[in-house]
Amino acid sequence: MSRSLLYHIPSFLGLLPFWILCTSSTNKCAVRHEVADCSHLKLTQIPDDLPANITVLNLTHNQLRKLPPANFTRYSQLTVLDGGYNSISKLDPELCQKLPLLEILNLQHNELYQLSDKTFIFCLNLTELHLRYNLIHAVQSNPFKSLKALIKLDLSHNGLSSTKLGTQPQLENLQELLLSNNKIQVLRREELDFLGNSSLTKLELSSNQIKEFSPGCFHAIGQLFGLSLNDAQLGPSLTENLCLELSNTSIQTLSLGKTQLYRTSNMTFAGLKQTNLTVLNLSSNTLSVIGNDSFAWLPHLEYLFLEYNNIGHLSSRSFYGLFNVRYLNLRNSFTKQSNSRALLPKIDDFSFQWLTHLEYLNMDDNNLPGIKSDTFTGLVQLQYLSLSNSFSSLRTLANETFVSLARSPLLVLNLTKNKISKIESGAFSWLGHLKVLDLGINEIGQELTGEEWRGLENIVEIYLSYNRYLQLTSNSFALVPSLRQLMLRRVALKNVDSSPSPLLPLRNLTILDLSNNNLANINDDLLEGLEKLEILDLQHNNLARLWKQANPGGPVHFLKGLSHLHFLNLESNGFDEIPVEAFKDLFQLKGVSLGLNNLNILPSSVFDNQGSLKSLSLQKNLITSVEKNVFGPAFKNLSYLDMSFNPFDCTCESIAWFVNWINSTHTNISELPSHYLCNTPPQYHGFPVMLFDISPCKDSAPFKLLCIINTSVLLIFTFIVLFIHFEGWRISFYWNVLVHQALGFKEMDKQPEQFDYAAYIIHAYEDRDWVWENFSPMEEEDQTLRFCLEERDFPAGVLELEAIVDSIKRSRKTIFVITQNLLKDSLCKRFKVHQAVQKAIEQNLDSIILIFLEEIPDYKLNHALCLRRGMFKSRCILNWPVQKERKHAFHHKLQVALGSRNSVH
Ligand SMILES: *[C@@H]1O[C@H](CO)[C@@H](O)[C@H](O)[C@H]1NC(C)=O
Ligand SMILES: *[C@@H]1O[C@H](CO)[C@@H](O)[C@H](O)[C@H]1NC(C)=O
Ligand SMILES: *[C@@H]1O[C@H](CO)[C@@H](O)[C@H](O)[C@H]1NC(C)=O
Ligand SMILES: *[C@@H]1O[C@H](CO)[C@@H](O)[C@H](O)[C@H]1NC(C)=O
Ligand SMILES: *[C@@H]1O[C@H](CO)[C@@H](O)[C@H](O)[C@H]1NC(C)=O
Ligand SMILES: *[C@@H]1O[C@H](CO)[C@@H](O)[C@H](O)[C@H]1NC(C)=O
Ligand SMILES: *[C@@H]1O[C@H](CO)[C@@H](O)[C@H](O)[C@H]1NC(C)=O
Ligand SMILES: *[C@@H]1O[C@H](CO)[C@@H](O)[C@H](O)[C@H]1NC(C)=O
Repeated sequence: MSRSLLYHIPSFLGLLPFWILCTSSTNKCAVRHEVADCSHLKLTQIPDDLPANITVLNLTHNQLRKLPPANFTRYSQLTVLDGGYNSISKLDPELCQKLPLLEILNLQHNELYQLSDKTFIFCLNLTELHLRYNLIHAVQSNPFKSLKALIKLDLSHNGLSSTKLGTQPQLENLQELLLSNNKIQVLRREELDFLGNSSLTKLELSSNQIKEFSPGCFHAIGQLFGLSLNDAQLGPSLTENLCLELSNTSIQTLSLGKTQLYRTSNMTFAGLKQTNLTVLNLSSNTLSVIGNDSFAWLPHLEYLFLEYNNIGHLSSRSFYGLFNVRYLNLRNSFTKQSNSRALLPKIDDFSFQWLTHLEYLNMDDNNLPGIKSDTFTGLVQLQYLSLSNSFSSLRTLANETFVSLARSPLLVLNLTKNKISKIESGAFSWLGHLKVLDLGINEIGQELTGEEWRGLENIVEIYLSYNRYLQLTSNSFALVPSLRQLMLRRVALKNVDSSPSPLLPLRNLTILDLSNNNLANINDDLLEGLEKLEILDLQHNNLARLWKQANPGGPVHFLKGLSHLHFLNLESNGFDEIPVEAFKDLFQLKGVSLGLNNLNILPSSVFDNQGSLKSLSLQKNLITSVEKNVFGPAFKNLSYLDMSFNPFDCTCESIAWFVNWINSTHTNISELPSHYLCNTPPQYHGFPVMLFDISPCKDSAPFKLLCIINTSVLLIFTFIVLFIHFEGWRISFYWNVLVHQALGFKEMDKQPEQFDYAAYIIHAYEDRDWVWENFSPMEEEDQTLRFCLEERDFPAGVLELEAIVDSIKRSRKTIFVITQNLLKDSLCKRFKVHQAVQKAIEQNLDSIILIFLEEIPDYKLNHALCLRRGMFKSRCILNWPVQKERKHAFHHKLQVALGSRNSVH
């Protein structure tokens, strides 16, 4: 009781928000053309608001526990229901009743564990039933009996211990039965009886631990065309047994990969004699010994897969009997013990002589000692031979190397990755039919005299890329005028500038790769006459000099006449100049890559004939401006542009047209926001080009002038405003002074004795002690000196403000004792200051002395008292020294200030 309570409370609490969430989340399903995709939505319920006419419903990767038939009433048109990756543990028979048109039901990766006779009783139209990765351990009676239309049944990755899916013949239309990754150990006749009326193209039993094939097991099946038993521990004897059981069946395809068949003998496949087997897969078997005549029983075999084995020796009888094999894969098939030469795999002469119908032979990735004079003899239909990375020591291709292929109509020969260092004259002279010859990724280092290719009368493609070095002569390709593709990438090409051009005979050339050769010298006639050339790769060379104006004799026009060129790659050549006529003849150019050069300014009209350009790459150059007269024609039909990582100058003149084009084009420009950034002017550095505001940019001159005038006016105005803001007080102060002087308020310039006091002292109440201490001694010293001290000298009864005005007038100077206290003193502030300043303006600027007892910043002074240090002469500004010994100097300065004549200057 308590347990069930504990169980229910969280689930109830959990379901409530889910219910709310999911009701609203159903409309998240993507519906398109009667297909509803509700996958990955954490659904716990069947959506009930989808269009009723959907035919495909995808409910995969959700949290469904069941598929209640009632909830599907609405979707009666469904033909495909995919409920994979849920937690469905039970299936209601009525589901199919609600979905009469259902053809494909996928319930893989669920928790189904039991199928009853009724489960699929209404699924009459079902053609595919996917139940892999469930928990079905056994099938009782006949759950699939009514599935008369079923073609494919997948029960792999369950826990089945038997193949028995029914007690009576059924599934008459079944073609594929997938039972891999179960726990089937024995194939029993009676357990396959239910397939008595079926004709299977594929019975998949891989990854079961099969230990026994009981007599007649395969004969129980109506017809069996394909059987997969990969990844099972069969070994030689069980394999032999298997083949005997397959005798007289209609088996055509047998896959026995990874079955530990380490050896075959003349009996292993004997049972297959009475079959029409056409495909046999024996890959990944550690097969080391192929006994003589092992395949003698397989005269119908067409495809034989032997890759990933460990064969030590092919004798002249190993392949005896494979008269009809067309395809043989021996990739990585032979033993690899390379350290000891004695253990190298051995292929006897005439080993392939029986394979008279072989068309395709792959021997890649082996460690074979070499080719002998009769290694391939007898392969009279061979068209495709791949020998990439096949040999441990095929250093030299001599005129006898391929003699055993003399009677083969070979079309393709792949010799890459074999450490070949030399091709001797006539090496391929036996291969008159050859169309494709791949010699790439070897160590060839030699002069190509042309004799190497003797006899290759039908050759179309030669790959020589990635070799040590190749030195050309004018005759290098004289004997192969049929060549259409020539790949010479990274071969340290020498003498490309031979005259006449080494390429002159190649009138049919359409693809030429000369990239990564560090070429610096080529003649302007190197490509002359290659009128069919469509693709030219010249990237990663050093051709910059050829296009310089300063090149002796002028720029070299090596692209002239290439009227059919479609793609041109000139990346990474150091180009900093392009002659205006460089691309003049390339009328059909569709793509050009000029990235990773040093191009800055391109001549206008350089792309004038490239109206058909679809792709243009100029990334990582030094382009600052993109102007219409240069790029207009090239951009016209462009569908792809790469100009990323250039130092764009974000001014109207440089990129306004470009930005305008970017914002209106459909051309694909990737990484526009992040890889197209302004470099200059400084204020735009790092700013995305696409966001550059072009609205102030217009192409008319008057507008520009207006713009300049506007800008200047704005600048001057700004300057004035700023000047007034920071220096306005100075202007108004001196203005006042000037006005007063002009109006005749001249300094009365009274003599000192005409004043009653030497100075009126303005200070904060808190600072009175300091004032007493410092001024009264001065009075005592000099009897003529008298200060007006408010506390002492104000007559009793006189109103304070009047007294102040009066006293200030009667004093020759006014001293401000400036401290933080004074700044806070509300009475002192403003009024007294105003009086003093007024007097100063009327009379004399020298009449004010500021004594700073503390460090007060100018802005505070201005803020509190409307005074600034700048208004006064420096001798009128005194700072009370911290050090005692300087006090004497302070008094001296004060006396100087008091004695100074009041004057404006
Ligand atoms: C099925 O539909 C009923 C009624 O609409 C609903 O209450 C129930 O939650 C649904 N069940 C599922 C699993 O969708
Ligand atoms: C299916 O139903 C939707 C609306 O629910 C409608 O727009 C669409 O045309 C219908 N499709 C067909 C083939 O009837
Ligand atoms: C359903 O969706 C899953 C995942 O999105 C996908 O793998 C699966 O193929 C889809 N099923 C069908 C029948 O389209
Ligand atoms: C099977 O589908 C067809 C239409 O394709 C339909 O006419 C027929 O009634 C369906 N069969 C059953 C048993 O529902
Ligand atoms: C093999 O094929 C032939 C001809 O196609 C046929 O007559 C013969 O019955 C087939 N053998 C088996 C065992 O199916
Ligand atoms: C199989 O080979 C053995 C020798 O290894 C030989 O004695 C026997 O006759 C061969 N059987 C057949 C059917 O060729
Ligand atoms: C192969 O070359 C050798 C010399 O290297 C020559 O004697 C021989 O005649 C050549 N054979 C063929 C078939 O060209
Ligand atoms: C030759 O074989 C290598 C390695 O399998 C492969 O990459 C290359 O494309 C092949 N060459 C041709 C021309 O098919």
